[in-house]
Amino acid sequence: MIVVFGGTGRVGRQIVEQLRREGKAVRVVTRDPASANVAQGVEVVAGDIHDQRTLVRAAAGAEAIVCTVQGGNGKGNNGPRGIEGAGIPSLIGVARDTAVENFVYISSASARADSPVEFFQLKFEVERLLRTSGVPYSIVRPTHLMDTWVETLAESITKKGKATVFGSGASPVSWVAGRDVAKVAAALAMRPGEGWSADLGGPEALPLTKVNELIAASLGLRIKGENKMSAGMLRMMSPLTRPFNEVLARRMQMGALLDAQPQIVDSSAAWARFGEPLSLSAWLKIRR
Ligand SMILES: NC(=O)c1ccc[n+]([C@@H]2O[C@H](COP(=O)([O-])OP(=O)(O)OC[C@H]3O[C@@H](n4cnc5c(N)ncnc54)[C@H](OP(=O)(O)O)[C@@H]3O)[C@@H](O)[C@H]2O)c1
Repeated sequence: MIVVFGGTGRVGRQIVEQLRREGKAVRVVTRDPASANVAQGVEVVAGDIHDQRTLVRAAAGAEAIVCTVQGGNGKGNNGPRGIEGAGIPSLIGVARDTAVENFVYISSASARADSPVEFFQLKFEVERLLRTSGVPYSIVRPTHLMDTWVETLAESITKKGKATVFGSGASPVSWVAGRDVAKVAAALAMRPGEGWSADLGGPEALPLTKVNELIAASLGLRIKGENKMSAGMLRMMSPLTRPFNEVLARRMQMGALLDAQPQIVDSSAAWARFGEPLSLSAWLKIRR
């Protein structure tokens, strides 16, 4: 049995699909089983990362645990301090007590001890804890996901005809498809943890301006203008926004990182092992 915490999320759902395709028994843990729309044959159980008893129950009998739960889009206790700072560490404790053969953690290529974004510092701390926990592990560190960014950029192009650009728009990123992250995570979850850890980026590094062009072309639309926010403006606005909207304030900090930390990643070793990744153009053709 592979237990997926976050199996209802963007990446988690695709991990569950891959595991089912391989014929694995899968249990998804969610705060709201009634709304969970999961693949056929998947067991769904109630669990909250803040509630130790539900974690123990959900992890019972697990050969591997996959964790895609994140506090990046949450506020208060469901933000980074509650999720990465407390919830995931207690899940790692449960994994140790359950003696799982692998704990697969979906981190981020932005996770660093010295990141200016607390969320990424805390993700780095989760990695550090996992590496020293004694639990066999795998750590997947994706760059920016096509799935998330295309959704946001496409909405602006569709509704306003405008390309959204954070920072200069010229810094390249090795955008990666959630499907490819899921492919790697699922393959790792099906074997004992071997301490595998790597940044995971797609096959081409493209700046945001080019990404906007490709999205517009895939939608058959023309870009008529730009909605541009400089890195300086994002850094200035973020602390002013935080008292009213901490999620938006965090996104502003992350947007400012596009120029400060361009993510050009060579993941050819990973793809040689797990299968070729999708380019952005290819992913746009199959996007659901
Ligand atoms: N999006 C990106 O561009 C990007 C880039 C690099 C890395 N990543 C990382 O990839 C991973 C997956 O991201 P994603 O975009 O797929 O996440 P997502 O769609 O936001 O999904 C988050 C999941 O966490 C679960 N969750 C939230 N709070 C919970 C709680 N208190 N207890 C239990 N479960 C809880 C949710 O389940 P329920 O609501 O059903 O309970 C949901 O399934 C994350 O670690 C993220 O940091 C993302």
